[in-house]
Amino acid sequence: MQDALIQLQTEALAVFLKVKTLDELEAARVEYLGRKGRLAEAMKDLAALDADAKREAGKIANDVKRTIEASFQATEARVVAGAAAERKAQEWLDVSLPGIAPAVGHLHLTTQAIDEISGIFAHIGFVRSRHPEVDWDYYAFESLNMPKEHPARDEWETFFIGDEGEVATGEKGKIVLTPHTSNGQVREIEKGELPIRMINIGKCYRRQASARHLPMFHQFEGLMVDKNVTVTELKGVFDYFVKRYFGPDRATRLRPYHFRFTEPSFELDISCAVCEGTGKIENGKCKLCKGGWLELGGAGMVHPNVLKAGGLNPDEYTGFAFGWGVERTMMMRSGINIDDIRTLYKNDLRFLTQF
Ligand code: PHE
Repeated sequence: MQDALIQLQTEALAVFLKVKTLDELEAARVEYLGRKGRLAEAMKDLAALDADAKREAGKIANDVKRTIEASFQATEARVVAGAAAERKAQEWLDVSLPGIAPAVGHLHLTTQAIDEISGIFAHIGFVRSRHPEVDWDYYAFESLNMPKEHPARDEWETFFIGDEGEVATGEKGKIVLTPHTSNGQVREIEKGELPIRMINIGKCYRRQASARHLPMFHQFEGLMVDKNVTVTELKGVFDYFVKRYFGPDRATRLRPYHFRFTEPSFELDISCAVCEGTGKIENGKCKLCKGGWLELGGAGMVHPNVLKAGGLNPDEYTGFAFGWGVERTMMMRSGINIDDIRTLYKNDLRFLTQF
């Protein structure tokens, strides 16, 4: 019995000496000191001895146990210290290395364009305003000289707010997602603060979704109302914006058009940058434009009925208005060549981080 205990101790100490890792240490502990380990097994044999022999052997067994436990603790200290030293050797830190820069985002390219556009108009005294995106059709159509059922309304493929197929109505008619920023015209005039130099930039909604049309897009609407405002001022403001936003070489043109809420009405064109307004390139016609011009958007002199709707006397006051798409304008300048305009709002970082 005693020889067996001494033998066990010698063996255990030899094993602990060879232990190199924490895993090996744990395995050795289970083997010798565990509840079902070798020492526990040996202790069981004590029960069979007579009283004297049991006392004698018990003393030795306790010594053996203490010796093995001490060896375990020493080994543990050695292995832990070794592992730490090894980690330290591997994980040295060079404080002179450049740090890891955190990824910093930026404003969406449409937001950047909106900021720039409102900045340009601010220079000539146009004040940014906001009007509802969800509005009564009175402001989107009726007050703009488009009475109920007028076919001109069809051009603005409008979303109506409804409840189970019933179009919701309120104080001033049906409730719509405004299809253009022109709903801000009469709302601005109604404030009664003259003269008006408004730049209203906001979201618009139309029932359209294709590679060239978004159901949600942005427009910027200019409105100037004062005594003696003429087409000259409209042309001057348009020209100023185009030269600031697109560059000093771009020319502008007013082309007769029709809107119910302006009279006369125009489409505003800018000269094409690719063919420099000639419509021709070296070996043929310019593919980007039509005859040297690109269409930017609509404009005109505010219709007398619109001024009246806002409470002004059209014999006393005149004004002009324009409305252009933000996405279209910014894409015309940057030459962003995407074959699907929906790419702008897909939130794909591979696209967005380029701007
Ligand atoms: N609201 C018109 C559109 O969406 C543009 C426009 C604005 C035309 C102001 C004339 C005056 O097409």
